[in-house]
Amino acid sequence: MYDFKPAEPLPAAELYRDLLAAAEALTAGEPDAVANMANVAALLWEFLPDLNWAGFYRVGPAKDGGGEELVLGPFVGRPACIRIPFGKGVCGTGAESRATQLVEDVHAFPGHIACDAASASELVVPVLRDGATIAVIDLDSPSPARFTAEDAAGIEALARLLADRI
Ligand code: SME
Repeated sequence: MYDFKPAEPLPAAELYRDLLAAAEALTAGEPDAVANMANVAALLWEFLPDLNWAGFYRVGPAKDGGGEELVLGPFVGRPACIRIPFGKGVCGTGAESRATQLVEDVHAFPGHIACDAASASELVVPVLRDGATIAVIDLDSPSPARFTAEDAAGIEALARLLADRI
């Protein structure tokens, strides 16, 4: 067991500095993508207050027919939708556009996929490798407008760290 939980609430800059250092330490030299995503999902849950879901969707072959879609990966939270087409919901929009989706009110987001009715706001950051989306990091909160530009920048830095580790 590792004790990476912050001892006290931290300002965003320190929180993300410590989160990135912990993610770097936990994933360094480990080639197993599932193990790395599982530990990072646990870290996100430990470090970030006021979440009801934290984890990964990976890009994989579509179940029905050709092409690719998002497939549920390691996470902490309630059981979630397993497959999300590119372009659908907040996750599919982030995967297709390759751009961070910071959603203050999920109920106002066209096509939002409500895996957990408690979710009120959401942050989705694509993990890019060679310019293509290979996964997304998804954070959900029961509080409206929970996520800020500092959260987006911190999770984008995490996505860059993980690009060749998942
Ligand atoms: N709300 C997401 C679906 C995934 S769950 O939040 C875990 C979406 O609209 O893509």
